[in-house]
Amino acid sequence: MQALAAEIEACRRCELHAERLKVVPGAGSAEADVLFIGEGPGAQEDEAGLPFVGRSGQLLDELLQGVGLDRDKVFITNVVKCRPPGNRAPRVDEVRACREYLSRQLEVIRPLLVVTLGRFAMELFVSNGRISEIHGQPRHRDGMVTLPLYHPAAALYRRSLQSVVREDFERIPELLTDLKQRPST
Ligand code: URA
Repeated sequence: MQALAAEIEACRRCELHAERLKVVPGAGSAEADVLFIGEGPGAQEDEAGLPFVGRSGQLLDELLQGVGLDRDKVFITNVVKCRPPGNRAPRVDEVRACREYLSRQLEVIRPLLVVTLGRFAMELFVSNGRISEIHGQPRHRDGMVTLPLYHPAAALYRRSLQSVVREDFERIPELLTDLKQRPST
């Protein structure tokens, strides 16, 4: 995992490397049962080299605590590992350039559950779903279980989504209990 993080830190596969302060490969346990995928680092993450340390991160921490998950025992990463300037959305070529790193993180960690936060992470696993329709519904495909959720930032912008996001998060412990009881495939 450390070797992979070092490789990601040296990456120059797309233009995002030019303006980054720090690469944000991801953080948490290499033995995590749950892996969370956000969109991309913001300004504070770019400074710290760590995912979800800004306002969205505070909300994510609250949501994790609310369902009894410890940040150190899960793994948190992003679709793109470098900050898109001005917090713009990552471009298709940038997402594509970074995709292999996420695949390798998944291979190393082999989490029971992958939780996607927001549209960009969801689109890596679901080809034509709308987040407003499929959030909170686990999907079993190719031996992987994914749970598409709204991005915490969406709940910061639209307060009406906060209870939806909390309710969706509450599905995680029950899903995990269920997945731990199943024989792995
Ligand atoms: N938003 C994200 O999607 N990822 C981060 O790391 C921080 C904010």
